[in-house]
Amino acid sequence: MCGIVGIITKKQVPICSSLVQKLKLLEYRGYDSSGLAFLNKKNIKVCKSKGEIKNLEQKISAKDMGNIGIAHTRWATHGKPSVLNAHPFLSDDKNWAIVHNGIVENYLELKSSLANVNFCSQTDSEVIAKLLQTNAPHILALIDVCNKIKGSFAIVAINKLDNNTLFVAKRKSPIYVMQSSDEVIVASDTICFENTGKDYYTLLDDEFCEVSLDKIIFYDKTGKVIKKSKTLLKKSQNKFSKDNLPHFMLKEILEEKVAIKNIIDYCQNNGLKKINKSLVRKIKQIIFIGCGSAYHAGLIGAKLIERYAKIPSTCHIASEFRYAETDIKPGTVFVFISQSGETADTLANLELAKGFITIGVTNNMHSTLSRAVSICLDIMAGKEIAVASTKAYLAQVLMLYVLSRHLQNLKFNTKVDYLSHVLDLLNVFEDIDFKKLDDIAKFVANKSEVIFIGRDLDYYLALEASLKLKEVSYIPSFAVPSGELKHGYLAQVDNRTCVVGITTQKNLHSKTLSNVSEAHSRGGNIVVCSPFDIEQKYLKIDVPNIDNDLICLLVAQRLQYLAYRVSVIKGFNPDKPRNLAKSVTVE
Ligand code: F6R
Repeated sequence: MCGIVGIITKKQVPICSSLVQKLKLLEYRGYDSSGLAFLNKKNIKVCKSKGEIKNLEQKISAKDMGNIGIAHTRWATHGKPSVLNAHPFLSDDKNWAIVHNGIVENYLELKSSLANVNFCSQTDSEVIAKLLQTNAPHILALIDVCNKIKGSFAIVAINKLDNNTLFVAKRKSPIYVMQSSDEVIVASDTICFENTGKDYYTLLDDEFCEVSLDKIIFYDKTGKVIKKSKTLLKKSQNKFSKDNLPHFMLKEILEEKVAIKNIIDYCQNNGLKKINKSLVRKIKQIIFIGCGSAYHAGLIGAKLIERYAKIPSTCHIASEFRYAETDIKPGTVFVFISQSGETADTLANLELAKGFITIGVTNNMHSTLSRAVSICLDIMAGKEIAVASTKAYLAQVLMLYVLSRHLQNLKFNTKVDYLSHVLDLLNVFEDIDFKKLDDIAKFVANKSEVIFIGRDLDYYLALEASLKLKEVSYIPSFAVPSGELKHGYLAQVDNRTCVVGITTQKNLHSKTLSNVSEAHSRGGNIVVCSPFDIEQKYLKIDVPNIDNDLICLLVAQRLQYLAYRVSVIKGFNPDKPRNLAKSVTVE
């Protein structure tokens, strides 16, 4: 969702440029508008822009010197993307400026409590600034406002009477603080701290702080001072460059081999050690929870765990499960899958899982999820900058595969050498005919709709392939289990439709092919993604025949690349698809 940063520096610097540099690191969290505010000759100066951060960059002046400022990159929830709706917002007396991430659920009620106050935006966030009616630069003013808010927030504020303090608040939206010898940074992602310092503070829900160069004071929601300790910043291998490739999405697909190697290392170095025999004896069932691609990875995970470890497993969409009133039996283990570890819908289910063993599968070991679960598995895919998930999804699936085999070994006292399968996979991972995929992408790009079909694991791959394609190419698309096609969905098929059949399992191959042929007979344009032979009249995406379930990863990689190419052919930027944010921190 939105990204937030605040900076105080020891010396006067071109503050707008410093803020914009940090904001660029957060752009993956939202990019429909951005803005900043800083103290300039005792007044708060604001600059905002619609669209990507480069538009804001063009508006700022390098001559504007300062030592304190806040900035925000927005992903619209309340009010369309526009300059007026971009943050920061000013208090009525213009003493305060705030940036906010989250949702003020009772903003209409709060707005109506403010008689004679003019609002200039359609956002829920502006009410926070307008509620700051005392000009005294003190955290108590912010605490007082936050105690009136229903919903979620990470807020950073400045006050024009104090050029040495950032005021910070947090509930259900992440915010972190790092202090080095000559600057302090407050940010919604620790990505902003790289190359700056070695440790940082994490605010928990309903915690507040006053941050200045020489001291950081934390408060609870009653205004009482509290003590907090620091967390070491994990050294990251992240490079925020495209390595001369045209897009991050392509770079990240090409990095999948490294992600696979990282998981092999992780397992060889005992990364799964906390999942031991005594834990396995307690497990009666596993419930997987995730959203979007993470949910699709969980579907595969649940199937594999039933297949290998014979533990009853189900996977649920996070935003549905929390309201499903499911009876959770003793012996249930929850597995939360989230590359960002900050997805609000997923985190909301932690409440339901209280008292049960919880396992997190994440790409962010600094996240709320990693702190909340009993055991956290690090998928180590490296930072994903492209908004649509590729290497993180693939690493999630692989982690769940190794988890299923690890549980199998523990439960049945076997010694299945599953890592040798993963190593075999690496040998063929780059046997991919990009040229042929480019041609198929051209074929797909001018179709009016794309339907992905498959059975069993192939259906789960179809779901993910369809999500990826529509996310970045905007071609209407859905996925359906092959056998269901004839139960109504064939109505969608005509000569403008493309049907992509995924068939990787020998025992189901002929079944899926008959469903493909039902679509073909109705004029559908057919592409088949398979390691097996098919009729020549269909276009084919070849997949090496590795004869085990890891073939999923080969299919995922090819269909991600297909989505990427279709997006590029249609003239879109696959790294920043419309209406999608990397880390969805609102419900
Ligand atoms: C799809 C995509 C989203 C995320 C979903 C969950 O490409 O990126 O569907 O998978 O928003 O995000 P995380 O994994 O961060 O919980």
